Amino acid sequence: MARLPDSFIDDLLARTDIVEVVGSRVPLKRQGKEYAARCPFHDERSASFTVSPTKQFYHCFGCGAHGTAISFLMNYDRLEFLDAVDELAKRVGMEVPRDTRVRNEDSDSRDLYAAVDAAAKFFQKQYAASDKARDYVQRRSIDGAIVDAYMIGYAPDGYSGLKDALGTDPRRMSLLERAGLFSKNDKGHVYDKFRDRLMFPIHDRRGRVIAFGGRVLDADDSPKYLNSPETPLFHKGRELYGLWQAKQANPKLDRLVVVEGYMDVVALAQYGVTQAVATLGTATTPDHAELLFRSAPDVYFCFDGDRAGRSAAWKALESVLPRMKDGRQALFLFLPEGEDPDTIVRKEGADGFAARLAQAMPLSEFFFGELSKDVNLGSLDGKARLAERCKPLLAQIPDGAFGDLMRQRLTELTGVGARASSPQTHVPVQRARTAPMAHAPRQTLVRSAIVRLLHQPALASSLQPPYRFAMLRQPGVELLAEIVALVRERPEITTGALLEHFGGREEAAALHKLALQSLPGEEAAWREEFLDTMAQLEKQMLQQRVEELQAKQRESGLDESDKEEMRALLQARLA
Ligand code: UTP
Ligand code: MN
Repeated sequence: MARLPDSFIDDLLARTDIVEVVGSRVPLKRQGKEYAARCPFHDERSASFTVSPTKQFYHCFGCGAHGTAISFLMNYDRLEFLDAVDELAKRVGMEVPRDTRVRNEDSDSRDLYAAVDAAAKFFQKQYAASDKARDYVQRRSIDGAIVDAYMIGYAPDGYSGLKDALGTDPRRMSLLERAGLFSKNDKGHVYDKFRDRLMFPIHDRRGRVIAFGGRVLDADDSPKYLNSPETPLFHKGRELYGLWQAKQANPKLDRLVVVEGYMDVVALAQYGVTQAVATLGTATTPDHAELLFRSAPDVYFCFDGDRAGRSAAWKALESVLPRMKDGRQALFLFLPEGEDPDTIVRKEGADGFAARLAQAMPLSEFFFGELSKDVNLGSLDGKARLAERCKPLLAQIPDGAFGDLMRQRLTELTGVGARASSPQTHVPVQRARTAPMAHAPRQTLVRSAIVRLLHQPALASSLQPPYRFAMLRQPGVELLAEIVALVRERPEITTGALLEHFGGREEAAALHKLALQSLPGEEAAWREEFLDTMAQLEKQMLQQRVEELQAKQRESGLDESDKEEMRALLQARLA
């Protein structure tokens, strides 16, 4: 993970208004000092998601999601840390310190991207020089413009084309190996993984090449398609082939068409259907489903009409059900046997394909059609069986009109009402909402100091070292001392950033709870109360030390310096 100076991050978060950042993406309603919304990270009807302008963090009482403006962008816009920082810095007109960035950025992953990119360029060059590859592409009637837009290349035959060209030193060899571009035989000999294949680079959401799919040119070679293995840059369950190009071609995507193959994506694009993406030789995963709906409200799943196609479609349905928030639509299109989008669009053109999309089956129809395939809805048994099958699946649909309509449809079909919603969505939300208030933990001095610091970290600046309280033997003292020291080092730190600092540590959950407590009284009074609390802790510290010395006196007697200290302590206690 990249490291930027903490002071920069603190400054950035201090200048950023998290309410604006969240509010421009999620409709917020004012609620006292804070803002509330329906949580964008889980599905719910009530508004359990709060954003605090004073603490500069968000928190969901339902699902526990929380963080700063940076983590919000990372989770909501699916940005990486540095991109989220860039985005916020742009908003407030701050310059991200490039030097530190270059020096500290995980240079490893930067080099990995560079290695994959170099490989893509190498394959492109080889393509231009290979009659065989260009002939194949011509036979498949793929245009030059598409070859360029999708950066289609060719991996030469032989075992070391790429290795000889790019693996010029041990470091580059190791990078290419980690990028999944080599195979190794039993004897440990390393050779090119992709040989004599047409190469389809896979781009990530920022347009960087992260992996490849390679198709054989000779029909009797196998496997027909070879994909990069999972690498630090590439997780096939989370990437979609063609999404980058689809986003480039459509400033606002109103729909996406999910197809099975690389060839389908590029053929559709060539005919003007520029919203096609493909999963990479895997079923549609829940991560895919989320990514799809984040990118477009309507998602069409296009499959072969055979058994394999229907079962792949059902897998896709299972992945999208829990993500069917209102406003999202999933549709299913089944092609005639023996056809795929590539062959169809070449036969029927973009209009023909669009006409098929217009006839696509809504999720509800596919859902009830599949589940009632082998049941006799004329019989009581059949109805009961259908209802049983539907219930667990319907329970996964988020609260909203779509779920209501699906349950209504089940009732029409069977006369059996499915429960209105899964218990998971409501009950814990309410419990979580009231819990911290209902039985607030006992307020010790330490705890009350921490609570105030969490609400207003700058309070710590009014303390002067040495922090004698830190020697107190009481639960939480170490943590308090750590917070004080942290704020001293990072005076601009916001509550959100402070919580982030402790994120992943054992104390994180407890701190979070304390930060969520609402503090009584005026903000102006907090300082007074805080200093008062700290003064009391200091007194306790004196007392503790006095008792220690008294114990020592009983056991082994005091030396001169002990006696000196004792006198000073007793005097201070009187003060
Ligand atoms: P298909 O076999 O349907 O190929 O595989 P296709 O897309 O129609 O390709 P052409 O038209 O024959 O060139 C569909 C997808 O399944 C994955 C690939 O992602 C492919 O695009 N696949 C297929 C593999 O990963 N490995 C294979 O051996 C075959
Ligand atoms: Mn095909």
